[in-house]
Amino acid sequence: MVEDVVVATGAVVAVSTGWLGVQLCVNTHPRLATCATVRLMFWFVFHLKVAYSTELGASTAYRGHAAATADPDVAAQIRQILDDELHHRKTLGDLLTEFDAVPYTFLEWLFWCVGNVISVGCHLWGEWASAFGAAQFEFGGAGDYVRAAKAARAVGREDLAVLLDEFQAQETAHRAFFLALARSRFPGVKRVAGPISTEA
Ligand SMILES: [Fe+2]
Ligand SMILES: [Fe+2]
Repeated sequence: MVEDVVVATGAVVAVSTGWLGVQLCVNTHPRLATCATVRLMFWFVFHLKVAYSTELGASTAYRGHAAATADPDVAAQIRQILDDELHHRKTLGDLLTEFDAVPYTFLEWLFWCVGNVISVGCHLWGEWASAFGAAQFEFGGAGDYVRAAKAARAVGREDLAVLLDEFQAQETAHRAFFLALARSRFPGVKRVAGPISTEA
């Protein structure tokens, strides 16, 4: 029994010491530290590219969604959300230029297609379905910004993390609007839509 405890303690100490050594090497060896920084930067820009393309899908879909909405007040609110998405995409595009990066062509095509299919579909399926789909889309968009803000903090860009947090809050507000709209048209949505916030 005592021997088992000693062996287990020794194993924990050995693993912890080894891990500490790896961390010290990565943080102090110039070449390894550079590798770590490049890796973190890659993921930060990757998240920016993903969010940039999903904004294309959202803005394209909302053009059709607004056009297919009979209630002029609701249509005006959807157009306001469309303006938010265009602003997000413009800001992300400027950031990609700042980091000398270009969007993923595949994602641009994919979300262009997704956005246009939804844009046309909004004229075909029910109003509650469009609102429910938009709410789910916004949930994904908010999640993109949570990950992008985390990546921005990992590369020491707190200023950009704050900006991305603002975008995440806007996507969450969009989701709340669409969920309320969907529920007003079809109360059964309440049971299947899931949480409003990505942090819930
Ligand atoms: Fe957006
Ligand atoms: Fe949004």
